[in-house]
Amino acid sequence: MKNMLVTGGCGFIGTNFVRYLLEESDFEGRVVNVDALTYAGNPENLSDIEKVFPERYVFVKGDICDKEGMAHVFDDYEIDTICHFAAESHVDRSIVSPDAFIRTNIVGTFNLLELARKQQGGLELFHHISTDEVFGSLGKDGYFTEETPYRPNSPYSASKASSDHLVRAYHETYGLPVTISNCSNNYGPYQFPEKLLPLMILNALEGKQLPVYGDGLNVRDWLYVRDHCTAIWKIMKNGKRGDTYNIGGNTEMENIRIVEMVCDILDDLPLPKRDHSRRELITFVKDRPGHDRRYAIDFTKLRRELGWVPEESLETGIRKTIQWYLENQEWVNRVQSGEYQSWIEAHYGK
Ligand code: NAD
Ligand code: DAU
Repeated sequence: MKNMLVTGGCGFIGTNFVRYLLEESDFEGRVVNVDALTYAGNPENLSDIEKVFPERYVFVKGDICDKEGMAHVFDDYEIDTICHFAAESHVDRSIVSPDAFIRTNIVGTFNLLELARKQQGGLELFHHISTDEVFGSLGKDGYFTEETPYRPNSPYSASKASSDHLVRAYHETYGLPVTISNCSNNYGPYQFPEKLLPLMILNALEGKQLPVYGDGLNVRDWLYVRDHCTAIWKIMKNGKRGDTYNIGGNTEMENIRIVEMVCDILDDLPLPKRDHSRRELITFVKDRPGHDRRYAIDFTKLRRELGWVPEESLETGIRKTIQWYLENQEWVNRVQSGEYQSWIEAHYGK
């Protein structure tokens, strides 16, 4: 693996993965980060990386749906490995306007697969990042395994399911060396504050309402983003080509409990005093249509075959995440005010 194309590297997980690869892992090659810089992409996340690793990190503003542009990237940088994060990722947005989800998640993935196929011989691996949402919803018991049938319930998860099928089919039909990982809800540094955890942390700090959908008893399995990165890298290095691996945090929790945890941790920190507990900010709001009730991941295969286990517990992970948001107020301000987008326009045009 000499020249790795990372798509969507300016998003939440992509940023953490690029940092992990260059700062912590034993990867010795070059990272070529292609990102279209949608509302979710922030190149400032990696501006220090650009300075510290000028020979090993390249950023290209590009759209994975642009066939010609992506063909140049493959040629110019002699891409031999792909780690594909780029996607529209937010379920609520997919309910309001699904178009971009179909375009990027399905057509964009198809474009990359076609280019990868033409790079055959020179291509070592196409690793596709997917989600546990493709499996649909669990009842009270049971876990998603790699054998669970697909049953996506939102335009987002249906588009991810579609891309997973394409990746698998390119392995079966053309022998493309692929691996796929399906992981649970990530959280940690650099997450855009539309997702549950950063939204609750920042609203609670600002004394704003904490909107909990429905009865708050939907369950998610929370995965600290650095644990996700170590799992991806293990799969890329040693995973069986053509195989799928589930990645989870072993941390099933009802949404309402997560929000209460955030409130309690913040109440205990030496922050400006409030008269009441932050729990009083919790507000139950109208439920999300098609809201999956429960996700829980069985990652036995990843543990058994590749020896991976998550390091963070929910308590340590949430504390680290809160600390990161407290220490990175400048990042928060620029994201919340939209200043990061003005910076992008000034540097890269509209
Ligand atoms: P994100 O929304 O934070 O980042 C997505 C990135 O992709 C952004 O930088 C965006 O600019 C870029 N992008 C969007 N459309 C593009 C296009 N057409 N061409 C090039 N770049 C484009 O998402 P994330 O949370 O970091 O998720 C990354 C991947 O992981 C996605 O594939 C997502 O489905 C998957 N995933 C996420 C989670 C999670 O909890 N966040 C869990 C499971 C799987
Ligand atoms: O499971 C993996 C998926 O996790 C990823 O594939 C998606 O890209 C990622 O966005 C995430 O999807 P969710 O819909 O689970 O994440 P979200 O943060 O939007 O919501 C988490 C839970 O919290 C969900 O049950 C809905 C609820 N929620 C969310 C928001 C934003 C609320 O109750 N209130 C909120 O304001």
